[in-house]
Amino acid sequence: MDEKCERITLSISINRLCKRSVDDFMSQLVHIDALSGLGKIWSKENFLLYMPGKWTLSLVAYSAHSIAAPDTSKDKTVIGYCIMSEKSPRCAHIHRLVVKTGERSCGIGTSLVKKAIDTTLVSGKYKFLSLKLPQNNKRLFKFYSGLGFFWIFSENSHKFMIATCE
Ligand SMILES: CC(C)(COP(=O)(O)OP(=O)(O)OC[C@H]1O[C@@H](n2cnc3c(N)ncnc32)[C@H](O)[C@@H]1OP(=O)(O)O)[C@@H](O)C(=O)NCCC(=O)NCCS
Repeated sequence: MDEKCERITLSISINRLCKRSVDDFMSQLVHIDALSGLGKIWSKENFLLYMPGKWTLSLVAYSAHSIAAPDTSKDKTVIGYCIMSEKSPRCAHIHRLVVKTGERSCGIGTSLVKKAIDTTLVSGKYKFLSLKLPQNNKRLFKFYSGLGFFWIFSENSHKFMIATCE
């Protein structure tokens, strides 16, 4: 692991992105999303949009600037996030997974997805964790396949994948 990745991974925490912390993190979330490279950029309204289970399932990865005020969201630098919701009582869904440009390829995306798997499937709360990705993004397909997701069907230039505990 190179020095940059070591610095990032050592200082990182991954926690639940609850309704209260999303307000504190909002400007960082919108900024990161605008530079994510994803086709449709998320605004504040997208982040706040109601979806069942969103504020108990979603995750944020951040590094803290100081240990003097460890509970202040404003003192934290967001590195990435994973927005999830409950699609059905048996299935949670990943809507958005983004790691800040410049902090990628250091394992943060993997850690976010692994934590998502832990809190949904390993905990026994859900039987399936689903997501969709652009049909032609082979790099992303490999990324999710390596984390245990498998292809189920394709529709409108997107692939749908799921992971399950079984
Ligand atoms: C996909 C993403 C979340 C991965 O985060 P990360 O912290 O870089 O991931 P990790 O370091 O744990 O793993 C690296 C792997 O992620 C994948 N990856 C990294 N950058 C990527 C990118 N721009 N596009 C697609 N896949 C990417 C690759 O499989 C990479 O492995 P490789 O370096 O061997 O090619 C991050 O690249 C990102 O935010 N991309 C833009 C948003 C996006 O495409 N989100 C997914 C929508 S379904």
